[in-house]
Amino acid sequence: MLKYILLVSLFVAFSHAQSKVPVYVYYESLCPDSAKFINQQLYPVAKQFKDNLDLKLIPFGKSSYRTQGSDVLFECHHGPNECHGNKVHACALYHIQGNSFQPNNTKEVLTLEYVNCLMERAQLKSGEFPGKVCADMVEIHNWETIEQCANNTEGSGLLKNYGDETAKLQQPLKSVPTIAFRQSFDSDNQKLSLENFRAALCKNLSPSPVQCRNLPGSAPAIASVGLVTIVSVILTRLF
Ligand SMILES: *[C@@H]1O[C@H](CO)[C@@H](O)[C@H](O)[C@H]1NC(C)=O
Ligand SMILES: *[C@@H]1O[C@H](CO)[C@@H](O)[C@H](O)[C@H]1NC(C)=O
Repeated sequence: MLKYILLVSLFVAFSHAQSKVPVYVYYESLCPDSAKFINQQLYPVAKQFKDNLDLKLIPFGKSSYRTQGSDVLFECHHGPNECHGNKVHACALYHIQGNSFQPNNTKEVLTLEYVNCLMERAQLKSGEFPGKVCADMVEIHNWETIEQCANNTEGSGLLKNYGDETAKLQQPLKSVPTIAFRQSFDSDNQKLSLENFRAALCKNLSPSPVQCRNLPGSAPAIASVGLVTIVSVILTRLF
């Protein structure tokens, strides 16, 4: 019986170590600070922590909308081109599919690659929004579907929903990008996320996964290693 309880607690300790936290990122398609955060912080960290991060991308920022009959009219922080860009993001988030021939290219992986590309290339200000260029680079095979969506009421509807979701966090949104763990705003997490997203993520994962362990001040990681070690020692003595 005791052995059984210990086995269960060991299992719980290990499975709990697979901690995962929802991270909501409120951003805008043409915003330089959003691009900087996504390209330099979010993208590399999300790749490293894909099992620990439940990423929710919300491409609306400080835009606003009003409805006029069945139409939705948007005003965007960086002008009308940004509204188009935000719709491309909204439609991509909805329509990107995992590649069934390459199991590693899940919807999540392709979405992260595509959004990273869009943010980086949109800052080059070469004219056209890089929707197609990035679809070709990342091998998103349904660009036509995404473009159709972005240019039609489907895209407006999706973007409007992101507007409502942004308003649920803060209205008006104070800064872009805003990063909210568990969909709740915290100014310390916000500040740390912009400086060092990895540290902010690790602070919000309990117990910390192995990738957090060489960070200064990651006490929870040490505690969890300690717990597993103690349980293992007890188990080896019993068997
Ligand atoms: C898929 O991922 C696995 C594990 O990370 C790796 O070993 C394998 O080479 C990858 N396959 C492709 C086609 O990239
Ligand atoms: C969609 O809209 C963009 C921006 O307004 C435009 O450049 C593009 O040609 C449109 N595409 C289609 C298929 O209408």
